[in-house]
Amino acid sequence: MGLLRTLLFGRENGIRSNLRGMLGGGASGGGQPDWTPDSSYSAPSYDAAPDPGATTRPEPPRDVTPPEGFEVVLHVGGLEPGEVSEVIAGGTAICVANVDGEYMAVSNTCPHADGPLGEGSVEGSVLTCPYHGWSFDLKNGKCKTNPSVEIQVFEVQIKGDAVCVRL
Ligand code: FES
Repeated sequence: MGLLRTLLFGRENGIRSNLRGMLGGGASGGGQPDWTPDSSYSAPSYDAAPDPGATTRPEPPRDVTPPEGFEVVLHVGGLEPGEVSEVIAGGTAICVANVDGEYMAVSNTCPHADGPLGEGSVEGSVLTCPYHGWSFDLKNGKCKTNPSVEIQVFEVQIKGDAVCVRL
């Protein structure tokens, strides 16, 4: 059931879960989402208090000019060591991970069956896809499950408070 839930609704603190939380869907906290229309439903207000179960990450700094060819994708405090996330950069979802304090970025799409790698898990520098468990070395993109496959690795630079990725 856990895999099916991940396939349908994404990881608990993944992009889909956060979007549901922002839209008032309320799947945070690990419970099953309630998609049933309810007469007591009221549209979320922008003045409403933040969802206490939602993950709060510092916004990417807007006052940093990234190096030529790079884009600012996260605040340096955006991910704790061992965390991974999907971020949108240049209109494309990429997977960014904090590996023991070092940021690494790779393609967000798993070559096996298009799983969202940014919703996977990281142990050391090994990223595991949430769908069927293929694993990848974040340092070189090589797949440990299927050595004939690799994913794109993006160069990362830290500038001030910004994590910058070359696209
Ligand atoms: S989609 Fe199957 S392992 Fe990633």
